[in-house]
Amino acid sequence: MLKYIHLNIIVIINNIRKTMISEELSYPSDFNAEVKNATEKLYKNVSKIIPEVEWPFHAPLIHEINKLKKEKNIAILTHNYQTPEIFHCVSDIVGDSLKLAYEARDSDADTIIMCGVHFMAETAKILSPEKNVLIPDHRAGCSLSDSITAKDIRLLKERYPGVPVVTYVNTSAEVKAETDVCCTSGNAKHVVESLGTDTVIFLPDEYLAKNIASQTNVKIISWKGRCEVHERFTAKEILSYKEQHENIVVLAHPECSPEVVAVSDFTGSTAGMSNYVKDNQPEKVIMVTECSMSDNVAIENPNVDFVRPCNLCPHMKRISLKKIYDAIRFNQHEIVVEENIINKARLAIDRMLEIGRK
Ligand code: 13P
Ligand code: SF4
Repeated sequence: MLKYIHLNIIVIINNIRKTMISEELSYPSDFNAEVKNATEKLYKNVSKIIPEVEWPFHAPLIHEINKLKKEKNIAILTHNYQTPEIFHCVSDIVGDSLKLAYEARDSDADTIIMCGVHFMAETAKILSPEKNVLIPDHRAGCSLSDSITAKDIRLLKERYPGVPVVTYVNTSAEVKAETDVCCTSGNAKHVVESLGTDTVIFLPDEYLAKNIASQTNVKIISWKGRCEVHERFTAKEILSYKEQHENIVVLAHPECSPEVVAVSDFTGSTAGMSNYVKDNQPEKVIMVTECSMSDNVAIENPNVDFVRPCNLCPHMKRISLKKIYDAIRFNQHEIVVEENIINKARLAIDRMLEIGRK
């Protein structure tokens, strides 16, 4: 009898535990009248890209995230490569990595959720150490950031004493701490030339370094890092799009190879490309960059026809509405950077922000 009671208690405890776990893991899913009304305007914005049958799956989460972020004074900062339901429906600020850095520095929210990759969240933490900075998936990395360590930089400085080090923001906080000044694709040439030296060490993107070297007289010592998304595009592929589509305008990110850049009409950061479309309204365009970018820009430019080669960034695509919702309710995943690293890395980022965009 005692054994029977004991077994029953174990079953009851297990059931309670299961219920608690499933409640914790459950997500808003009721597409009721309140949700429908509250999200109707948002859906109108994205209806060209998100099919109507999919909206009832996104809308309850979007509605809940938007309610919670107001209650908790959270700012959602989102990179241009995020999917449209994130980019257009829950974000407070959207942009390229340079804009996200300025906004992280200037935001008056208590918590920043970075919908992008880890180096972007770390940059936000370095610029706003007093804020709670979260990334919805801490595994969202970057092949460029992974290509170089702080020790590599120290060795390069030994090999080229006195030569200033410019690092792309797509690097870890430890690498930034060994750096004289950071840059993004939105200001790389400007940063290189601002140093007033005839040589700079420019890390870690080999292609960005070559693309900048072709526009300046400053000698550039580079590294062998590559973006796993942009290195996949080839000049042959771009030329074949040009053959198939008369008068198509080709916009390329400078992380593409110099051969791809050479057959493009314009090269710029993700914000640069987006602004090009907004300002010039080309009839037909191809954005040689991450896949979701075309979706987001197409929504804002309904008269422009987009040809879409699709290379996805697996790191950017780790972020989802469910993970943003979890980030809010479980306060995860918190970005922690050591104080001495923050202090050193901050100098390099502040110099970049003072130089600004060109
Ligand atoms: P942008 O600074 O142009 O937004 O680029 C960031 C990035 O990771 C591109 O792959
Ligand atoms: Fe890094 Fe390339 Fe992804 Fe940008 S697109 S985050 S550079 S891997």
